[in-house]
Amino acid sequence: MAVSPVLLALVLIVFFPTLTSCSPADEFIQCLSEKIPSELLYPQNSTGFMSVLSSSVQNPKFLTNTTARPSCIVTATAAPHVQDAGLSYRSVRDDGQSFAVLDLARLRAVSISRGSWWEAATAWVDSGATLGELYYAIGKASPTLAFPGGACPTVGVGGFLSGGGIGLMTRKYGIGTDSVVDARVVNADGELLDRGSMGEDLFWAIRGGGGESFGVVVSWRLKLSSMVSPTVTVFNIGKTFDESSTAAVLAKWETLALDQSLPDELTIRVALQGKNVFFQALFLGGCTRLEYTMRRLLPELGMSSADCREMSWLRAMSFISLGSMDTPVEAMLNRTNNLGTYVKNRSDYVRRAVGKAGWESISREHLSPSGGAVLMILEPHGGAVARVSADSTPYPHRAGVLYNVQYAVYWCCDADGGAAAAATGRLDGLYGFMEPMVSSNPREAFANYRDLDIGQNAVGADGLTAYESGRVWGERYFMGNFRRLAAVKGKVDPGDYFRNEQSIPPLLQ
Ligand SMILES: *[C@@H]1O[C@H](CO)[C@@H](O)[C@H](O)[C@H]1NC(C)=O
Ligand SMILES: *[C@@H]1O[C@H](CO)[C@@H](O)[C@H](O)[C@H]1NC(C)=O
Ligand SMILES: *[C@@H]1O[C@H](CO)[C@@H](O)[C@H](O)[C@H]1NC(C)=O
Ligand SMILES: *[C@@H]1O[C@H](CO)[C@@H](O)[C@H](O)[C@H]1NC(C)=O
Repeated sequence: MAVSPVLLALVLIVFFPTLTSCSPADEFIQCLSEKIPSELLYPQNSTGFMSVLSSSVQNPKFLTNTTARPSCIVTATAAPHVQDAGLSYRSVRDDGQSFAVLDLARLRAVSISRGSWWEAATAWVDSGATLGELYYAIGKASPTLAFPGGACPTVGVGGFLSGGGIGLMTRKYGIGTDSVVDARVVNADGELLDRGSMGEDLFWAIRGGGGESFGVVVSWRLKLSSMVSPTVTVFNIGKTFDESSTAAVLAKWETLALDQSLPDELTIRVALQGKNVFFQALFLGGCTRLEYTMRRLLPELGMSSADCREMSWLRAMSFISLGSMDTPVEAMLNRTNNLGTYVKNRSDYVRRAVGKAGWESISREHLSPSGGAVLMILEPHGGAVARVSADSTPYPHRAGVLYNVQYAVYWCCDADGGAAAAATGRLDGLYGFMEPMVSSNPREAFANYRDLDIGQNAVGADGLTAYESGRVWGERYFMGNFRRLAAVKGKVDPGDYFRNEQSIPPLLQ
């Protein structure tokens, strides 16, 4: 099953006002064209505009004829283009104003340094590279190096890291941003900063505080993970809810994170849709030990040696996302998305086991008699995620979290018709049903699965994003870290230059 998490936040939206009679959009483009090569600049009326726009869009709802279009797209290929795009026009957004898109998809270099006995292996990776491109470069550089990224190869590195980033090796190596050791950021003044010049507060904030609030991160330096063995092991076992034992297996599975004897090397994530339940595992070790561990910890799943496959880490990441051993690993480099279906996602965190009766009731609700069922993906936490304090990065969902829940509904084929209402109705129905079973006060949500339904910013009397409006959604993504994020924003972007529906509001001291 080629499902996977995470919003692809490759684009930065720069707003600018249309207050004068001469169109500032024209002035803005004029100003940009003096600094940025014309082949990287796509005004709305240019021939390449639509294809560049759709290449960055991950959900067709952003392409309908009622969706606002940017006045122009800047497809930066180097950090100075990002600096120029930011500085070409001071931006102040009012609702309904024009805006430009800074598309980082062409800023995608990956450079691996394999390290030595005295120095850890690292990578510099540009924000516009995809996880698939990063995995491919790492896998080709060394069979024992890896990075704890997500399962979906088309997700952009910048978007992934901006929300924290979870995946199938999080229990062993932490969330994605736990491995970030440096970054290059263009701030609201157009300056290019690194860890030394940005200071530890900004460096803290960009590692999970959400994209598009503090600056444009053009590249990241990652500590790579060294594995003991050049092969890992995977399995993907399907069950159906018709088997009465499935709810019991789920109930046992969800308490595994509490079992001190569960190795950090083992992650079993679960995908549920309709009657189908898939248990998908990645184990940083061999089949023999995995079989032994499964017999000891979750015999109810009935995993056998026939389910077990050993392969390189790169092959495993390809197998998990593409579902096939026959596809060459080069498919990880494919950046093309099928934009056929619409999708809406929401998220939760579970801290108290749902239990067998809970899973039976979810399955009754979940097996909706009409329409496509909601997809649920459960991503285990514990291990290395939980050993780091909740304020070490903006990602607060650590000790005590059993797993993250991602909900997704798909529909075809227009943004606002009956199919859309029916699909989002099913999603919201399940989300409401889950409320007593998931975290509360606040009901936690994952910043990578942006959900505008949990709240949107309002502008205060001073023209800046109001702190109180941001708390509504922000404390669900960041909990106790939200206030510090707002304070950092107040320091590095007091004029609220980078803003959107869920950007961090500046808290001015
Ligand atoms: C929604 O979830 C699906 C399934 O995991 C994924 O393919 C898609 O990229 C997600 N979209 C967003 C915006 O997170
Ligand atoms: C696009 O519009 C600008 C002014 O808004 C104009 O100068 C330019 O010639 C137009 N380009 C095309 C290809 O129509
Ligand atoms: C938008 O597209 C739909 C069909 O694709 C069409 O019926 C409608 O007239 C369009 N609306 C506008 C404002 O162009
Ligand atoms: C790349 O992926 C897209 C979408 O899944 C698919 O349609 C296309 O055939 C793939 N291209 C190659 C060269 O594999």
